[in-house]
Amino acid sequence: MSNVRVAVFASGTGSNFEVMMQENLPCDIVLLVSDQAEAVVLEKAARLNVPTFTFDADDYPSKAAYEKELVEKLRAENISWIFLAGYMRLVGPALLDAFPNRIINIHPSLLPAFPGKDAIGDAFAAGVDMTGVTVHYIDEGIDTGPIIKQKEVPVLPNDTRETLQKRVQAVEYELYPEVIRKLVEEAK
Ligand code: GRF
Repeated sequence: MSNVRVAVFASGTGSNFEVMMQENLPCDIVLLVSDQAEAVVLEKAARLNVPTFTFDADDYPSKAAYEKELVEKLRAENISWIFLAGYMRLVGPALLDAFPNRIINIHPSLLPAFPGKDAIGDAFAAGVDMTGVTVHYIDEGIDTGPIIKQKEVPVLPNDTRETLQKRVQAVEYELYPEVIRKLVEEAK
């Protein structure tokens, strides 16, 4: 066990979360936060004995209101980093101000190209011959925060959207742990 406690935020299948749990990272994932009560990632967290916290944004009057509760929960858990892994919500000032330069995200394109929800599909449809993966700090925009590291993934002539997605994801599984390792070590 390390003494650096982190939370992962995810809304979907959680394959990046699962990879993080398998890696020997210099931090402990002690909380999985999700805004989707039915998300597959919650089953993975349960199987891996990671405590979860779910919330429904519709139960709160505003983003500020649910983020205030999240900040309280994260502080109570002594969380020092937040890793977004398929968390499909914009982060607002309440969380950003509480964790300056401590919230990072992985995105499946070479930002600033193809921000948004379907970066792989958009890159494939655009017919580019190179896409990739970006790990970046979070700000209030849609995938606009300062870039930490990128890795290219070529689009091959015979690629389908599905084969491209598989190769992009394989690079995500390498790049995110690599960046996490470096940032957490440097901050120690
Ligand atoms: C990943 O492609 C990540 O880049 C994006 O959301 C997806 C999450 O996938 N932000 P998973 O839930 O980790 O499988």
